[in-house]
Amino acid sequence: RVDEAWIRALPKAEVHIHLEGSLGLADLLGLAKAAGAQLPFPADRLFGGATAGAGDGAETGLSSFLRFLDWGCGLVATPEQASSLAYRFAARQTASGIRYTDAIVNPGHWGQWTDRVPALFAAFADGFDEARVDGLAEVNTCVSLSRGQSASSARELVEQITESRPPRVVALSIDGDEHRSGPVSHRFAEAFSLARDRGLRRTVHAGESSGPEGVRDALDHLHAERIDHGIRAVEDPALVGRLRDQQIPLGVCPRSNVALGLYPSWEVHPFRHLRQAGVAVTLNTDDPAVLGTSLETDWSVSSQIWGLDRSELRDLARTSVTASFADDDLTNRLL
Ligand code: ADE
Ligand code: ZN
Repeated sequence: RVDEAWIRALPKAEVHIHLEGSLGLADLLGLAKAAGAQLPFPADRLFGGATAGAGDGAETGLSSFLRFLDWGCGLVATPEQASSLAYRFAARQTASGIRYTDAIVNPGHWGQWTDRVPALFAAFADGFDEARVDGLAEVNTCVSLSRGQSASSARELVEQITESRPPRVVALSIDGDEHRSGPVSHRFAEAFSLARDRGLRRTVHAGESSGPEGVRDALDHLHAERIDHGIRAVEDPALVGRLRDQQIPLGVCPRSNVALGLYPSWEVHPFRHLRQAGVAVTLNTDDPAVLGTSLETDWSVSSQIWGLDRSELRDLARTSVTASFADDDLTNRLL
């Protein structure tokens, strides 16, 4: 097993991590206290409670987990609180040796910002700017649509963001529960094409709660440049060939997939199969606070379970940088 200190020292990027799922216990307790709000679960089981719906009837691990994110982010009321969360996020990424992050942020979780979404992103950018001044890692944001939202609200969000242009927003994304909404290609095609015209990059959660058809849909109709998760592409060999030939990177998050019940264990997770097939896979945490992990822990566990040696981890670090939406200058410095 490659040790975590060696992994921390490796310059790398993280391309699939949600700001919402990265708020730490201290962040959440501080926000709850400031808001005078009760915790949904006792403090010592706060994150354990978040995914406890797995397997109970209509409630899935993912849906109870998404509601937990609504609770935590719903406590954030002021730009200072948002900037401070962003700054602390950059500090944690830096501590893992992550030099650049594409952080996914879905404004739907931030209930007090519905009418002022650009201001929320501007507040995060202030925190990331302050982090840069202090020598911490670079972080940009991917503004994310919820799977279930309407075509018109998706288009309006892209219009607002691209007209007001808060700093550091580099991409449009989709996350949320694929089960609850069916295919999004037609509903979101207009929002994605507007984003493309206005210079945003494109990444889509697919092939997690949907099968390979979700991945194909994102490539064909939304012109996704990267797929978040994407692992269920493995069920369709022609699609695996397409991902390899077009070198579409996958933002894979094995711990999240196992925690949310997609695969019973890391041993049977398709990461290694996809990598051996020549797909540009990256290894990410998704929601590290809720999952109780860090990137170096997950890379170290991967090295042990999947037999990745140091040269393969170096290669994984290079892929993380080329798969990211970092600008050319930073990319060249990290390679
Ligand atoms: N939002 C945060 N984490 C997510 C995941 N794993 N899938 C979908 N939406 C998410
Ligand atoms: Zn995700």
